Amino acid sequence: MNNIVRNNSEILDKVRVFEKEAIKNIPEGQKPSFHLCSPIGWINDPNGFSKFQGEYHLFYQYHPYDTKWGPMHWGHSKTKDFIKWEQLPVALAPDQEYDMGGCFSGSAVESDGKHILMYTGVLDKIQEDGTHLIRQTQCIAIGDGVDYEKLECNPVITSYSLPEGSNREDFRDPKIWKDGEDFYAVVGSRHADGSGQIILYKSKDLRGWTFVTILDRCENKIGRMWECPDFFNVDETDIMIISPMEVKADELNFHNGHNTVYLIGKYDKENHKFNREDYGTIDFGLDFYAPQTLETEDGRRIMIGWMQSWENNIVPKDLKWCGMMSIPRELTIKDGHLIQNPIREIKNYYKNDVEYKNVLIKGDTNLEGISGREIDMTVEITEGDYKEFGIKIAKNKEYETLITFEPIRNIVSFDRSYSARLCDALHKREMNVRNQNGKIKLRLIIDKYSVEIFVNDGEQVMTSTFYTTLDATDISFYAKGEAEINIQKHSIVLD
Ligand code: FRU
Repeated sequence: MNNIVRNNSEILDKVRVFEKEAIKNIPEGQKPSFHLCSPIGWINDPNGFSKFQGEYHLFYQYHPYDTKWGPMHWGHSKTKDFIKWEQLPVALAPDQEYDMGGCFSGSAVESDGKHILMYTGVLDKIQEDGTHLIRQTQCIAIGDGVDYEKLECNPVITSYSLPEGSNREDFRDPKIWKDGEDFYAVVGSRHADGSGQIILYKSKDLRGWTFVTILDRCENKIGRMWECPDFFNVDETDIMIISPMEVKADELNFHNGHNTVYLIGKYDKENHKFNREDYGTIDFGLDFYAPQTLETEDGRRIMIGWMQSWENNIVPKDLKWCGMMSIPRELTIKDGHLIQNPIREIKNYYKNDVEYKNVLIKGDTNLEGISGREIDMTVEITEGDYKEFGIKIAKNKEYETLITFEPIRNIVSFDRSYSARLCDALHKREMNVRNQNGKIKLRLIIDKYSVEIFVNDGEQVMTSTFYTTLDATDISFYAKGEAEINIQKHSIVLD
């Protein structure tokens, strides 16, 4: 490869050795079973979620040296089925002047047998006159699925390419794709009014990029800066995903400050015009941010998100790792809304299936065979006369995590107030669900420290973490009134 800087710098060598050694000290069985999590230290956004040589790769924002955010590297894993992950050595380290402040978020694409990474390099230095210079630019690294080399001509896009009226400081998180012979990328930026805009760039050779258009703008209506854009077509609908910062709460939407939103509309590819028709919340939980998607070999659009939040993240004191990814989710469109369901490959890991039909729930009820911290469980209320129905998970004598449905208010809620966190921080979320006369379907994906609640076959999702000790495995049900339910429970076992 010409014009490529060898990237296995001392900084990269050092982190690869550190990571390999440090992981050995993590007790067996401590990490989630089927959710990708930090190998050691801190992770945030998923990056470079892509297909490469018949496997699926995921990189992530990574600071292995501490359980707090720090100079960003790209950690790396791959999978064949989105459930079982294999860890690979760190792919990128902040080792060039233009990315010394961190290799920030980005994406990947396969082209001519090579794996192309596109990321934001952050230059962060004190200049001779004592002023502090921070610049975000877009950079390319090319590799073979394990080792990546940064282009000598990096950065390939600087903020000078932005149209007039743009702020030149926030410029990050490129999502790259290939259409025919051309590469395209959307990048998050800010208008001078302080609010987000998504810029489209085009390139023939990855080295030279030209500004095409501003695809969409926030105009201070959906938060401020728009981070981590993604842009794709699913079920003949064009979707742009954004992670807006500083969004004002609107009824039960956008309570996290940093939120996840899908913009839905039509993209006129010839003229590069995105005509937004509507938008919606992607996830209503306490812990979901910066999602990214890929298309599988069989044409499914899969999304994965960081299962944590900026404002409210919990760093358990006794763990040497911090941060997990959501379960990869299959995206479809129904009646103009985004539908999310857990990746179907999870079914290949079902064990100890337990089924109940037409069970009448009144007070607090335990059911034989229904327990566990690594399960996929669907609870369907088929009829009843009740004010509130609840599921208590991760329960022992001291602790419980609560999921409720109130048919009168059409609200599903999550509450981790009694999940063992030793402070009264933010623990609750509520979301509106479609009223079906007291009927509802709740599918819970639980993996040690998290629950993802998929309502009515993926119409709404609520994702949250909790760090209750792992001996709390009981599950019980209650109804204020009477509710008749069906349950299907599967343990998830990876051998
Ligand atoms: C989103 C984000 C990105 C940035 C990265 C830094 O969570 O702030 O915009 O690239 O995290 O780690």
